[in-house]
Amino acid sequence: MSQRIIVIGGGVIGLSVAFECSRRGHQVTVLEKGGFGGQASGAAAGMLAPFSENGEGADPFFRLCLESLKLYGDWQSDVKKASGLDFEYENTGSLYAAYHDADLLALETRRQWQKPFGSEPEIIEGERLFRLEPSLSREVRAALFHPDETHIYAPDYVKALEAACLRGGVQLIGNVVQLAAEVAGGRVHLKDAAGRTYEADRYVVSNGAWSGEWQQALGLNIPVYPIRGQICAYHLNEELAVSHMVFASQGYVVPKANGSLVCGASEDIAGFDTSVTERGIQRLQNWNKRLYPALERMEPFHRWAGLRPATQDGYPLLGELSRHPEVVMATGHYRNGILLSPVTAHAAADVIDGRQPPVDIARFAPERFGASTVAV
Ligand code: FAD
Ligand code: GLY
Repeated sequence: MSQRIIVIGGGVIGLSVAFECSRRGHQVTVLEKGGFGGQASGAAAGMLAPFSENGEGADPFFRLCLESLKLYGDWQSDVKKASGLDFEYENTGSLYAAYHDADLLALETRRQWQKPFGSEPEIIEGERLFRLEPSLSREVRAALFHPDETHIYAPDYVKALEAACLRGGVQLIGNVVQLAAEVAGGRVHLKDAAGRTYEADRYVVSNGAWSGEWQQALGLNIPVYPIRGQICAYHLNEELAVSHMVFASQGYVVPKANGSLVCGASEDIAGFDTSVTERGIQRLQNWNKRLYPALERMEPFHRWAGLRPATQDGYPLLGELSRHPEVVMATGHYRNGILLSPVTAHAAADVIDGRQPPVDIARFAPERFGASTVAV
């Protein structure tokens, strides 16, 4: 049955949930306080890299990431068709670099636990490695190759999601001022600073790093915090040829089809400040030239930053609230919101439709941090 759904937040998560709910026949509105895709989602490097981003083991978060990677092929093609817009979705594969003999054991441990999950990881050393990545520093001892990891051009992907939503009949309302929630008659109601009210059967909370602001109204502890990522881009040239995503313990580089090399990213605590600092970019530059010596002689042509929505335990908040089943949380995707957009969209829409999500989301229950200590 068609429901009226209000999605709060127009980043990659809100737009993906809106797109999926709309194509299932629901009437969807997205409320965004700024421009669509103007925060973390537009700032992201766009890596779809569950193996490289999760080195520790096959926990529920890794499985969620992997499921999303599997959904991506069909998902991105559906977004392209629905929007009429194209965007880069590139299967470059990835290399996770190690500098010392002592790190080889850690690479092999990763390879062993990741092997059953289908990407055929392989440790590559010596001349073979430098044939794959000729500009890579000769200090790199070996790398773990994952052929299935891929990337997307995040700003264009988010634009396409926005267009797909519009074409599908989703109402997109930007520049909403001071959206506030209150509970009356046992249900959540929304209104903005202009006194306009927004009523729906279901509300989806997907306002990223700002999600903690619903804590008081919902009587729920929502420990979502902004972690700033500073990031920069260089022009690729004959001296600097990069064809895979390359990771190391300090960061990553991603070659884009537009001829740029995106190099990220810091993790700093700066509240909701999205400025770029000299120190932050300098640290990236110092690290980048260890991976690609050609970068020593180059300056980034673009520097920017975004706020990752981090949770207290590093897992997203995904599912409906038992006390307010009209509220579905889809937030806290930290470093992997671009990767996790298809699985989150499917899971949130399944929760709304009373269906079983594609993966078990019990571990991501949004009430796991208990009630808010702030009185309601
Ligand atoms: P956002 O994109 O921040 O969207 C939230 C939206 O909610 C914003 O537009 C905001 O204006 C709006 N909002 C806030 N409060 C309100 C309110 N009260 N009312 C209405 N609207 C509101 N992920 C990957 O998967 N791969 C990567 O390679 C990758 N690289 C990254 C690199 C950097 C430098 C950064 C910063 C992040 C990266 N990420 C990556 C993480 C990814 O960007 C985030 O996980 C993802 O964008 C989160 O999406 P979101 O929609 O939850 O948040
Ligand atoms: N996933 C890359 C980043 O968050 O910087």
